[in-house]
Amino acid sequence: MAPPSLHRGRVNLGGRLPRPQHKTLLAQAKAVLDGNWTGHFTMPSPRLYPHQWNWDAAFIAIGLAHYRPARAAQELRALFAGQWQTGMVPQIVFNPQAARPYFPGPEFWQTRRAAAAPRKPETSGITMPPVHATAALHMYRTARNAARMRESFQALFPKLLASHRYFYRFRDPAHEGLVYIRHPWESGVDNSPTWDAVLCEIDLTRVALPDYQREDLATVSSEQRPTREDYDRYVYLVDLFRQCDYNDEEIFRTCPFLVQDPMFNSLLYKATNDLVELASILNQDAGECEEWLQQSYRSFNSKLWNAETRAYDAFDLVRGRRIPVQAVTGFLPLFGGLATPEQAAALYDGLRSPSFGGPDFARFFRFPSFDVRHKAFDPRKYWRGPVWVNVDWMLYHGLKSYGYKEGAEAVRRDVFELVERFGFYEYFTPYRESTVGGLGADRFSWTAALYLDLAGEKPISERNP
Ligand code: GLC
Repeated sequence: MAPPSLHRGRVNLGGRLPRPQHKTLLAQAKAVLDGNWTGHFTMPSPRLYPHQWNWDAAFIAIGLAHYRPARAAQELRALFAGQWQTGMVPQIVFNPQAARPYFPGPEFWQTRRAAAAPRKPETSGITMPPVHATAALHMYRTARNAARMRESFQALFPKLLASHRYFYRFRDPAHEGLVYIRHPWESGVDNSPTWDAVLCEIDLTRVALPDYQREDLATVSSEQRPTREDYDRYVYLVDLFRQCDYNDEEIFRTCPFLVQDPMFNSLLYKATNDLVELASILNQDAGECEEWLQQSYRSFNSKLWNAETRAYDAFDLVRGRRIPVQAVTGFLPLFGGLATPEQAAALYDGLRSPSFGGPDFARFFRFPSFDVRHKAFDPRKYWRGPVWVNVDWMLYHGLKSYGYKEGAEAVRRDVFELVERFGFYEYFTPYRESTVGGLGADRFSWTAALYLDLAGEKPISERNP
């Protein structure tokens, strides 16, 4: 079967938008991505995020693969140019030509203190959710010229494998197949209320903080961004890493924030499976992945599954306790393929529960990023309530893979409606009644890229009648 071709307008768009409107939006999505292209990589958004970000690059490449496959492969190459000798893929690869100031920039991170960090390009000193092998496999499957895409991945493969090795070597000290994150920025969901109970253990009245100046508030209203206290704690952790010269063992010994997160581990598990599949497509060896996969599956379901609430929790490694709050990230084992059919059914119930806007979603777009009935829910503040398209994209695929076709199609429809009504924003109001629904940065790359990709998906009911 020929892969969908967006730029020739042959694609079956499904959803509820009339075709001409979809066509306009597809053109606009490409204009967003092309406008954010620097010549080497794509910025997440030109004003707020003028450098290259780790998981953004993967989502962006997925969109680019539909109409600029060479650029899609370059997107991943540019990111991996910042890979550390330990194998870690950094959260940010800095662009020396950035036209806008950004905090924290390379002078704040000071990663030249780390023996393993590249001198050029400069990078930040933490990582992010590893979705790159997943993106590469997806790109291979959607590419019009799969053979050419496969060739472009030959040189990338050993770097992908090294990035997975990094996690199991440096982030899984008990060798249980579960990795920890050491900063909320590593989670990808920076100010999710999931981290509140851990972060509040950092007593701001007792720690010395370096001077710093935020840049984000010059672009986006403070009510949509993390608070001053959040930033103080983010900065405190970066300062600690600098003092450890970014040595992984030392950070593990001293860091007050070490969390095993269900989304991060689900994405790693999925990407490891996808790496195995890529290896067979590329005729390369990924034998070492098998052991990681077996161990991860066991530990994930014994340690992070909460039989009482029938949901997955994050685990605070420093204090040895669960973090029993419900964020949308707890449903990502559906995407990771880690849930048994029974657990998947429980997760699907959870997604349709009043905590996430169900059962009929008359008032809410799918899916709020946090439990709407919890006191920490905030419909405008970043990862504390708004809807994010990358999470919806992953849940669409997760629901589809477990056979929840209607649920998957409904998520896809909601993404279309959000983009149609509000544009290509970074995040969106969870309320259908809102007239101003686009939040955070405008012209946001992954929203455009994943919209392009979802528009290229055939309606599930047609594919599997
Ligand atoms: C924000 C998001 C993060 C994203 C980055 C760049 O920090 O929380 O997930 O990667 O912006 O878009």
